[in-house]
Amino acid sequence: MTILVTGGAGFIGSNFVLDWLAQNDETVVNLDALTYAGNPENLATLRGDDRHVFVRGEIGDHVLVEQLFATHRPRAVVHFAAESHVDRSIHGPGDFVRTNVNGTYALLEAARGYWSTLPEGERAAFRFHHVSTDEVYGSLAPDAPAFTETHPYEPNSPYSASKAASDHLVRAWHHTYGLPVLTTNCSNNYGPFHFPEKLIPLMIVNALAAKPLPVYGDGRQVRDWLYVGDHCSAIRTVLERGRPGETYNVGGWNEKPNIEIVHTVCALLDELRPDPAGPYARLITHVKDRPGHDRRYAIDARKIERELGWRPAETFESGIRKTVAWYLEHAEWVARVQSGAYRDWLQRHYGETA
Ligand code: NAD
Ligand code: TYD
Repeated sequence: MTILVTGGAGFIGSNFVLDWLAQNDETVVNLDALTYAGNPENLATLRGDDRHVFVRGEIGDHVLVEQLFATHRPRAVVHFAAESHVDRSIHGPGDFVRTNVNGTYALLEAARGYWSTLPEGERAAFRFHHVSTDEVYGSLAPDAPAFTETHPYEPNSPYSASKAASDHLVRAWHHTYGLPVLTTNCSNNYGPFHFPEKLIPLMIVNALAAKPLPVYGDGRQVRDWLYVGDHCSAIRTVLERGRPGETYNVGGWNEKPNIEIVHTVCALLDELRPDPAGPYARLITHVKDRPGHDRRYAIDARKIERELGWRPAETFESGIRKTVAWYLEHAEWVARVQSGAYRDWLQRHYGETA
């Protein structure tokens, strides 16, 4: 049996592929365009492992995607590929529409074409799992109840708007064509292989380099944080037991203001890698706020717990300690991401200049 994963060289996708193959022998065909966010070095431990078939390509390339379906005959698609960084979406929304909206459309069409040719039993068992975000629901007032699956969609950034559009397409392909889809809307992830443009890894790598720790605005914006391994286990659970056509919110029950996250990272670094120059919190610098910055996200993850029995295994304290330790132990990975050397892979394998 085989699954088709898109975006499996990115942060969550690579964690998912590694976890998947650590737990069973079902082949993973990994389709990834290797944008700046895709790093084949995340998958270095799978070199020579024929359970992992890496294909560099675009989800929007329908000829390639149709060929992958025909050749590998996956029983499921797990769709991670996306442009994922809110700040980049503010500066260049076009890529977000191209990949998140048009790319998801092309992938859905290719999946539908393949699925419609399957014999009855395989058709019923096929799944298209769409990995989405809590950001589609918009921003919450300080004391408003957390997002449930029926919360209205009110996306505020080009990133969240493009993810909302993709969620709607996935929903429509189920209602109109009967494609057996599953959607998960997850809160902010953190953990190994997180690209250091996002809050937690950026704070770790900047602190270690004695650079300023840029906190947007007053730093009182609230996010719910989930360890990436828990997101991967939630996706496996929904893929296995979720009801087609349903959406499931996934969260860590860890609502925290950004400034508290930054202080926690600094305190862990003070403990694990003390700086003779003084506590890392001295580097905290409040900078101009992000335009249209959502004030608060919070996830009500009771449905996935009630219906499928999933709960996160990590607390924030255990997950953030593991994460900071991982970055300290993987200085080489960080250095190659920061220098751009991780892009050398493209040159070696495809003769390209990145
Ligand atoms: P990421 O930016 O780290 O990785 C995205 C991956 O997709 C990269 O490997 C990139 O090369 C690939 N990709 C981009 N455009 C592509 C295209 N056109 N064709 C094929 N591959 C392409 O993202 P991430 O943080 O791992 O997020 C993965 C998914 O999870 C996204 O759909 C995101 O919206 C969702 N999500 C992320 C978070 C989070 O906190 N990071 C939370 C909830 C949901
Ligand atoms: P981020 O990791 O970009 O995730 P998202 O915007 O998808 O939630 O940012 C998390 C929070 O941290 C968000 O409120 C913006 C804030 N932030 C900073 O204060 N400074 C930074 O340098 C970054 C990257 C984010």
